[in-house]
Amino acid sequence: MRILLLGSGGREHALAWKIAASPLVTKLWCAPGNAGIAREAECVALDITDHTAVIEFCRSNAVDFVVVGPDAPIAAGIVDDLNAAGFKAFGPTRAAGQLESSKIFTKELCKANQIPTAAFGHFKDAEAAKTYIRQQGAPIVVKADGLAAGKGVVVAMNLEEALAAVDMMFGGGFGAAGAEVVVEEFMQGEEASFFALCDGEHALPLATAQDHKRAFDGDKGPNTGGMGAYSPAPVLTEALCTRIMEEMVKPTLRALKAMGSPYKGVLYAGVMVTKDGPKLVEYNARFGDPECQVLMLRMMSDIVPALIASADGQLKNFSLRWFDDVALTVIMATKGYPGDYGKGSVIEGLDDAADVEGVEIFHAGTRAEGGKILANGGRVLNVCATGKTVTEAQQRAYQAVDRIKWPDGFCRRDIGWQAVAREKAGG
Ligand code: AMP
Ligand code: GLY
Repeated sequence: MRILLLGSGGREHALAWKIAASPLVTKLWCAPGNAGIAREAECVALDITDHTAVIEFCRSNAVDFVVVGPDAPIAAGIVDDLNAAGFKAFGPTRAAGQLESSKIFTKELCKANQIPTAAFGHFKDAEAAKTYIRQQGAPIVVKADGLAAGKGVVVAMNLEEALAAVDMMFGGGFGAAGAEVVVEEFMQGEEASFFALCDGEHALPLATAQDHKRAFDGDKGPNTGGMGAYSPAPVLTEALCTRIMEEMVKPTLRALKAMGSPYKGVLYAGVMVTKDGPKLVEYNARFGDPECQVLMLRMMSDIVPALIASADGQLKNFSLRWFDDVALTVIMATKGYPGDYGKGSVIEGLDDAADVEGVEIFHAGTRAEGGKILANGGRVLNVCATGKTVTEAQQRAYQAVDRIKWPDGFCRRDIGWQAVAREKAGG
């Protein structure tokens, strides 16, 4: 089987690593890829926003299956266009992908199907949004409707912050994504990520993970795309996972099917575990990054038949096996991220780091030049490790981090702290 993977981040390196391990795969390309992905796949300099070019590549290379990594091509309808051209692809159509690309779409769907989530209002003008905020009081959450690279959310602890966020969004702070604004109830609790593979009708729960969105130790500093993750997330007990499947995932699939836009691909539910039970924070129409990296390390089964079964509507009675070990990943980012940062600094010691027991290093923003690995983005490396406990995986990951020589990089030193604290407390 000949597979084309789309994307260039750490998530795609982990997917490429797992797909390349499948005995079913005879050829794997990745567009555009990165220096680490080049170890698993042939990287091709395709512009993936140019759907005609992607389809042409599939035709001339007899590609059997396309796997879409990031959210932007899904929102741009790459799966619709590939399907229309006769190619099979993993991921939702543009209409089904609105679960991620439109917060209002998802909030309305939750309301119509009694899916537990924060109470909300949505507004096309600033005055109406402000009146609602004054009625509700703070803390309160203000969100741009559309995709804003994970940055379109302001969790306002007081009224002034909330009102300023409204002005910023309607003032074009997030571009077109902020043409409509959602205002939601603030939910208190522990947050975790739940993943299910879907085929339009059936859902196969994958595994849970916990991300660390803030830039600095102690969950301080600005929000980022994610600075580290581990799987499984102990806060999502089996009982809670069952509730998430029954109260969120299944009704969502039923609703989308009834609308004529069945959801295929991976459904990523960001869940807040509140004192009233699990509530949906948001849906994403793709694997999380960096959650995907730890999921791939824990998946024992071949992923390729699962991805194909999702695209073919054949997940009923499908099952996947997982390793019992936990997996953890520490993100190394260029200093300055998530703000401005430079590119091109040299990274050394990667082979030495990868020698630590249980360690696997995935690349996010890197490129190779003259036999050297250079930083080429904000999030640059995913230093991952497996272990019997989160404590062990964490120790191994940081042992590897300490072998990497990259003065321009930084990472958090406390990834996994919630689980490590639980382990210290005896479970
Ligand atoms: P989102 O892009 O919707 O995932 O929001 C980004 C982050 O903001 C989430 O991961 C949460 O940590 C936080 N957040 C979003 N909505 C809420 C809410 N209603 N209550 C509390 N925190 C929230
Ligand atoms: N790790 C968060 C995300 O992928 O959106």
